[in-house]
Amino acid sequence: MKILVPVDGSAYSLKAVENAVNLAKSNPPSTIVLVAAAMEIAELAEGRYIYEKMKAQAEAALAKAKEAVQAKGIIPSLILATGPSPADEIVNVAVKEKADLIVVGSRGLGAKTGSFMGSTASKVVTYSPCSVLVVKQQED
Ligand SMILES: Nc1ncnc2c1ncn2[C@@H]1O[C@H](COP(=O)(O)OP(=O)(O)OP(=O)(O)O)[C@@H](O)[C@H]1O
Ligand SMILES: [Mg+2]
Repeated sequence: MKILVPVDGSAYSLKAVENAVNLAKSNPPSTIVLVAAAMEIAELAEGRYIYEKMKAQAEAALAKAKEAVQAKGIIPSLILATGPSPADEIVNVAVKEKADLIVVGSRGLGAKTGSFMGSTASKVVTYSPCSVLVVKQQED
C-alpha cells in the first residue's frame, strides 16, 4: 500500500513516521511518501519572507523524516507542497498520489496542552479521500 505521511518537523510527526514505517514493513509491498506543506501568504512583501522561512522549515522537516525512514531500510519519496492551506495541500497530494492511507500526528509544532487534535490533523481527517491514522504520543 501507499502510505502518505505529512511532516512538520515536530516530535509528533516523527512518531507518525515511525508508525508508518512499521505499517509499511508489515504490509509489503508498501511505499512511503513524505509531504511537507509550506504555507504561502499572498500579496504581502512580508508574506514572501515568511514563505521563505516556512519553505526552509518544510525542507528541514522532510530531510529529518527521510533520514528516519531510510534508517529503517525504506527509501521514501518526498513532496514539498505549497499553498495557502497546509491541510488542503496534504489532501490534494493524497488524491494525486492515490494514497491508501495517511498517517498523521495528532499535534504538531503549534502543540498546546489540552487540545486533542491540531487544526491540520483535524482538517486532514475531515477531507481526506482515504483512511487516516492519527498517531498520539504516549503522554497524551
Ligand atoms: N505544514 C505541514 N506540512 C505537513 N504536515 C503537517 C503540517 N502541519 C502539520 N502537519 C501534520 O499534522 C500533524 C498535526 O499538526 P497540527 O498542525 O494539526 O497540530 P498543531 O501544530 O499542534 O496545532 P495547530 O497547527 O492547529 O496550532 C503533525 O504531526 C504533522 O503530521
Ligand atoms: Mg500546526
